[in-house]
Amino acid sequence: MHMELSPMEVISETKPSGNYVFRAQGLSKTFGHVKAIRNVSIELRRGEVLALFGDNGAGKSTLTKMLCGVYTPDSGTIEIDDEHIVMKGTRDAEDRGITVVHQDLALAPDLTVLENMFLGHEILRGGILKPFGFLARREMAEKTESALQSLSIRLPSLSLAVKDLSGGQRQAVAVARANMWSRSGILMDEPTAALGTIQSDIVCSLIRSTADAGAGVMVISHDIPRILEIANRVIVLRHGEVALDEPIGSLSRSDVVAAMVGLAGADPEDKEDNK
Ligand SMILES: Nc1ncnc2c1ncn2[C@@H]1O[C@H](COP(=O)(O)OP(=O)(O)OP(=O)(O)O)[C@@H](O)[C@H]1O
Ligand SMILES: [Mg+2]
Repeated sequence: MHMELSPMEVISETKPSGNYVFRAQGLSKTFGHVKAIRNVSIELRRGEVLALFGDNGAGKSTLTKMLCGVYTPDSGTIEIDDEHIVMKGTRDAEDRGITVVHQDLALAPDLTVLENMFLGHEILRGGILKPFGFLARREMAEKTESALQSLSIRLPSLSLAVKDLSGGQRQAVAVARANMWSRSGILMDEPTAALGTIQSDIVCSLIRSTADAGAGVMVISHDIPRILEIANRVIVLRHGEVALDEPIGSLSRSDVVAAMVGLAGADPEDKEDNK
């Protein structure tokens, strides 16, 4: 109906009232006797950067994996586009416009950069682009090149296997891939952990501009000062529970650290009666 709309514009055209990427309530996840996530409610709004902080083992990755369909919550609900969703894999999340960059990356090491960028999106090859035949590959290469260029990533070749890239290059490809396919939201688990200073700054400004363009971005990081500069809201997890959930306002690094270590009046022992 409209010409030349980017996927994100299509979403805002068709879902003008959808302010939330997702809303989750009362999520819990237990592994054996480890309560990794306990009664966590979290929502991501379009246009915001939500920083998710917490010490090692606080439950950030577990929470992210529930929000993108890798893990099924033991209890709680996830709502996307005003609908309760039970996701059975990341494809279910991607179909709803939410992409994820996992801490452990989840690229296919033996496939090339180009193949990784389109992994799981065969519909493009068999569907929309099918009438163009051999042109499909050129379109894919152009799309990939511009996605990489927007991150200032220079690679020797798109035909290189991902296992032959450096750790930082690999992470950059994963970020570019998520950015290319997201429509409403991106979840990033430590997107800058393997990146140098310059690349980290580029990824952070890309996160900010992605949110400014209308998507919601949830970013997990241990680089608190850098992320505070681009965040609209902060959630801190401690021992699997929400210890702080506030707009950025005048939050400082020390407020965040205090909540992470339990010095902000957020001792989970005091909240046992919430369950
Ligand atoms: N698949 C699993 N099986 C058993 N225990 C798990 C599993 N995944 C996570 N855990 C446990 O759940 C808790 C939360 O782990 P999680 O990976 O979510 O922490 P995190 O906040 O992402 O930490 P980090 O900052 O180190 O990445 C930890 O105690 C961890 O050992
Ligand atoms: Mg983690």
